[in-house]
Amino acid sequence: MSDKTFYVTTPIYYVNAEPHLGTAYTTIAADAIARYRRMTGHDVMFLTGLDEHGQKIAQAAEDNGMSPQEWVDAIAPKFKAAWDMLGVSYDDFIRTTEPRHKKGVQAFWTELYDRGFLYQGNYEGWYCVPDETYWTEEQLEDGKCPQCSRDVQFIKEDNWFFKLSEFQQPLLDFYESHPDFVQPETRRNEVLSFVKGGLRDLSISRTNFTWGVPLPFAEDHVTYVWIDALLNYITALGYGGEDHERFDRYWPADYNFVGKDIIRFHCVIWPAMLLAAGIAPPKSVFAHGFLLTKGEKMSKSKGNAQTPASLVERFGVDAYRYYFMRDVQFGQDGSISMESMVQRYNGDLANDWGNLVSRLLNMTEKYFDGLTPAAPTAEPTDADATLLAIAGVLPEKYEAAMVRLDYVSALEAAWDLIKECNRYIETQAPWTLAKEGDDARLAAVIYNTLEAVRISALFTAPVMPNTSADVWTRLGLGDITAVTDIAAVAEWGQLPAGLRVSKGEPLYPRIYEEA
Ligand code: MSP
Repeated sequence: MSDKTFYVTTPIYYVNAEPHLGTAYTTIAADAIARYRRMTGHDVMFLTGLDEHGQKIAQAAEDNGMSPQEWVDAIAPKFKAAWDMLGVSYDDFIRTTEPRHKKGVQAFWTELYDRGFLYQGNYEGWYCVPDETYWTEEQLEDGKCPQCSRDVQFIKEDNWFFKLSEFQQPLLDFYESHPDFVQPETRRNEVLSFVKGGLRDLSISRTNFTWGVPLPFAEDHVTYVWIDALLNYITALGYGGEDHERFDRYWPADYNFVGKDIIRFHCVIWPAMLLAAGIAPPKSVFAHGFLLTKGEKMSKSKGNAQTPASLVERFGVDAYRYYFMRDVQFGQDGSISMESMVQRYNGDLANDWGNLVSRLLNMTEKYFDGLTPAAPTAEPTDADATLLAIAGVLPEKYEAAMVRLDYVSALEAAWDLIKECNRYIETQAPWTLAKEGDDARLAAVIYNTLEAVRISALFTAPVMPNTSADVWTRLGLGDITAVTDIAAVAEWGQLPAGLRVSKGEPLYPRIYEEA
C-alpha cells in the first residue's frame, strides 16, 4: 500500500428525496479527484453517504406512510444506483443509521462530556426543518428562514449545549495557521468575518422527536442532526469503534467537499467540535458553487431539479461528467443549460475527441492492417516536435490544475493535446503520404498520433473513465485503471509496435436534434 494517502469526502445527502444534478455534481467532482489521485499512486479513500436522521427525514417518512427506517432503507439504494450509473468509485458509503456511526457519535459525546464542553440548558428560538438549522428571532427575515425563505417553527426545549462560544479565538488561530483550510479564498473571508462577529453556544440535542442518536448520558435526548451528520467523516473510518486503523491512516482528510450553503457547519462548527475533542480538523474544506438553471439555484424545493438519469440517457455517462466538470468552474456558480450541453458534446466530444479516435483507428486499419507501427527512428520534424512538446508538458500542467481542483484548466490541458492531434493529422495528411508511397513518414505520423491519443486517454480518464478505458482497449493496451504513476506512463514513446487495434463504434455519435 502506498504511504501517500488521500482522503476526500462528499457531504452526506439527505434522503428526503432522490439524487439530483446538484448532489451528483459534488459527487462527480470528488470522484474525478479520487480517480486522479489513484493514478498518481495515492492510497485513496473516497467517502460518500447519506444523512438519514432528523426531523426532516422523519417528516418525509411520515408523509409517505412509512416508518423512518423503512423510508431510509427504501431511498438509500436509489442513491447507490445513481452513483453506480455515474461511475462513482467510492471506497466507502456511510449511512448514519448504521451501528458503526451511532457508536462513533456516542463515543464523541462521551469525549466532549468528559472534557467539559457540554452543559444542559434551555433553548428557546426558531428552527427551520428543511435546512435543519436554528435561528434567532433577529436572524429571521419577514418571519421566515433567512436561508430558504420557508416557514420556521418555534421551539422551547431542554437541550444540551456545546460551548462553541469558547472556540472563537482557537478557530481564528486555526484559520491563521492553516490558510488553506477554507477554500476558495472568497469563502475563507466569509468564514473569518462570521467568526469575528462572535459565536453562540450551540444546542446539540433535541427532545421533541426521537429519530436520531441518543446522547449516551441523557438517553431522552437525540443528537442534533447536523452534528450527527458531520461526524460521519470520522465514524466511517472507525472513530469510536474497536478498529481505528483506517482513522489513523486517513485522518485528517485532505478534502471535505461541500456546497457553499453549508460552509458554516463545515468551517466553523466542525473544526470547533474536533478541536474540542482533541482531533485535528481536515486539511481543507472546499466549497463549490451552485448549479443554476435560468439564473435560479436548482433544487428539490424549487421543483426545477432534474434527475441525472434523464441526461445520462441522452448524452451518456462520460459526456454528462465532462459537461459539469468542464463548463462550471469548481468553486463558482455556473449556469447550465441543454443548449450548452449539446454544444460541448458535439464540439469537444464528438468532433475533437471521438472523431480523432475514429479517424486514427480507421487509418491504422487501412494502412497498417490494424497493427500499431513501430516508433519512428528519423529525426522529428517541426510538426512532430510541437506534438511531442504539448504531450510533454501535459502531466505537469494537469497536476498543477488538479492541486487547485481546477478541473476546467485540467481538461483544457488535455484538450490542448487532443486539438493538436487533429491539427497534426490535417497538416501531415497521412492520406497523401499513402498515395505518394512515403511509408516511413506515414508510419511516423500514425505512430505519433496513436501515442498522443494513448496519452490523452490517460488525462481524460479521471473525468471520463469509460471512454478512456475503451480507447485503451481499442489501442490494444491493458487496463487503464491499473495505472498508478500517470506521469511515468505518459512519457513519450511507450506505445509498443504490433498491437492489434480495433475501430469500434464512434465514441460520441453526434447529436443532431435541437436542444
Ligand atoms: N445533509 C446535509 C449535508 C451534511 S454533510 C455532513 C445536506 N444535504 S443535501 O442533500 O441537502 O445537500 C447536499 C449538497 O448538495 C450540499 O453541499 C449542497 O450545496 C449541494 N447542492 C444542492 N443543490 C445544489 C445545486 N443546485 N448546485 C450545486 N450543489 C447543490 O445539506
